[in-house]
Amino acid sequence: MSSHRLHSNARITAIGTYVPEKILTNLELEGMVDTNDEWIVQRTGIRERHISEPHQYTSDLCFHAVRNLRERYQVGLEDVDHVIVATSTPDTVFPSMAARVQGEFGIRAAGALDIQAACAGFVSGLQLANGLLLSGSCRKILVIGAETLSKITDYTDRSTCILFGDGAGAVLVEAGAEGSFIASRSATDGTIGHHLYRSALSDNIAGSPIATHGCIVQNGREVYKWAVTQVSEGITDLLHTSGTPAEQLDWLIPHSANLRILESISERTGIGMDRILESVVRYGNTSAASIPLALDSGIRAGRVKPGHSVLLYGFGGGLTQSGLLLQWVAESQ
Ligand code: UT7
Repeated sequence: MSSHRLHSNARITAIGTYVPEKILTNLELEGMVDTNDEWIVQRTGIRERHISEPHQYTSDLCFHAVRNLRERYQVGLEDVDHVIVATSTPDTVFPSMAARVQGEFGIRAAGALDIQAACAGFVSGLQLANGLLLSGSCRKILVIGAETLSKITDYTDRSTCILFGDGAGAVLVEAGAEGSFIASRSATDGTIGHHLYRSALSDNIAGSPIATHGCIVQNGREVYKWAVTQVSEGITDLLHTSGTPAEQLDWLIPHSANLRILESISERTGIGMDRILESVVRYGNTSAASIPLALDSGIRAGRVKPGHSVLLYGFGGGLTQSGLLLQWVAESQ
């Protein structure tokens, strides 16, 4: 099994988020492709998504999310010693978005690393942060999930263009006397990765030809089946490993790809929808940003409170899953 109880000295001490101002509604999409509001809401739950301006890129969204964190929690960032940005849509491959964040905020001597695990990226970043903190090589890490998916969405493909939106979420993870990361899970099935991809240099995946236009391509039905079965099993496995009965979990925050997927996960895991936080209805699928956006909505609403158990569970391109059970410690701001 790929779930493990963790040694941890990591604690999330602050959070900040940002979505671009411009909203793309279902009604507007009706004028772009053969779709309608009823289909989109019934099949996905999505009502609108936020879309970056032509001149706005992932680095800009990262900066806004970090400024939001800094203003809300009044924390200094000069002594951050690592920046990790999870994204599939960097403005440039290098310099990394993490290096851009270091430069923007005058952080003194930090490591900077972009990671790409698609919609599992933010949770993977937290897992890495725990390792860096525990090893003693870092004391304070910024972990960011940020995407401008609208820039890699094919707005002539109705099966994908109704899904995606842009946004960013940043958390500060610090070493403390007591850690709050309890258990984690990672699992990947690379043999079915061709069901969800964005091309880069190659015109094939493991010998099978792929579309090379650089936009997101998805076999929705196959990814849906995988998500409902494998993610539900993964969540149950992670809870079991941690010794947490499903009915005792305070909050589940799965990657917000589709409200129907969340409802199926709820049924299969026994975690009621009243304990699941989502960001898909107002923001669409924002990949690496969807979990911090949902978490922050729970914090701002005063629902997620210090001491609560929170299970973050990313899943998507790879196909990869990344789960982390933690105890929330940051006060709401
Ligand atoms: O973030 C990473 C992980 N991603 C996911 O977890 C996404 C997983 N997949 C999904 O969420 C769903 O599969 C979708 C929302 C993408 C699609 O929903 P679905 O219920 O699986 O629809 P479908 O692909 O089975 O298509 C059903 C019908 C088809 O028509 P026929 O063949 O039954 O005549 C599609 O052509 O709906 C049609 N369709 C649409 N109709 C109106 C597909 N897209 C649209 C659309 N508007 N936008």
